[in-house]
Amino acid sequence: MMQKGIILAGGKGTRMSPLTKAVNKQLLPLYDKPLIYYPLSILMLAKIRNILIIVNKGQKEQYKKLLPDGKNLGIKISYQEQDKPNGLPEAFKIGEKFIAKSNVALILGDNFFYGQNLTKTLIRGTKIKKGAKVFLHYVKNPELFGVAKISNNNKILKIVEKPKNNFSNYAITGLYFFDNKVVKYAKELKPSRRGETEITDLLKKYLKKRQLNAEIIGRGGSWLDTGSIEDYYQTINFISTIENRQGFKIACIEEIAYKNKWIGKKHLDNQIKFYGNCNYSNYLKKL
Ligand code: TTP
Repeated sequence: MMQKGIILAGGKGTRMSPLTKAVNKQLLPLYDKPLIYYPLSILMLAKIRNILIIVNKGQKEQYKKLLPDGKNLGIKISYQEQDKPNGLPEAFKIGEKFIAKSNVALILGDNFFYGQNLTKTLIRGTKIKKGAKVFLHYVKNPELFGVAKISNNNKILKIVEKPKNNFSNYAITGLYFFDNKVVKYAKELKPSRRGETEITDLLKKYLKKRQLNAEIIGRGGSWLDTGSIEDYYQTINFISTIENRQGFKIACIEEIAYKNKWIGKKHLDNQIKFYGNCNYSNYLKKL
């Protein structure tokens, strides 16, 4: 069954207000490209070519100006709107028809991943047949995240949301792979005290069945959540440092499509015309 992917790109963006009052967070610049390019590039690196982008009510047209239907990237992009940010698991209710009988990956629109061996790790994620897989990253401030304790063979033993004591330093990042049961499980969830359904509760359903696996993004890899102003600018600094030092771009979606042989030179030319005379186009010309 072909793997599908969902990018959850709605949300209130409260922590970044007033930047996010008129513009959705995922359309803000993250250094030299819009934020949404980064999670999209991760799905593309995982070789996922059928992608649903979930946006806030009324914002579909805005996104389509940037990423119309995916043809220019050799993929298929479709859109759906979420009425209100009712929680991450709602992605699977909204996406039920899109998912159909497939397995599905979910990535949060504001999550940034980078590092050595990432592509291999991602592709391993798409190979799960049954159960779910989460990606963990070691952090020094686990009290801010959903956190997991794991066994020697990378099975998850326990997960705790924002632990107060010394539980584990492995934060659960915003990238998940699920089997098709996720749609059914998501429908069973009840909103938590903050009035949203919680991804932790969804993961616990898999945990109970001993079907929750972990993949660790090691020290050579980075995971940044761009949700607060501080994190946002730290991520921008990180990207600018790497790109200016190496000359390679992070999350250049056309480059990934081209290297995956999903598009040819003609598509690249079209994209260069679409972007116009800019640094990003110059980079595409060099490919
Ligand atoms: P959050 O960071 O939890 O929320 P937010 O982006 O609205 O920001 P804030 O907490 O500052 O208000 O969301 C993580 C990502 O998931 C983010 O990219 C927005 C997206 N999201 C949705 O699209 N729908 C939802 O119902 C929720 C909860 C989040």
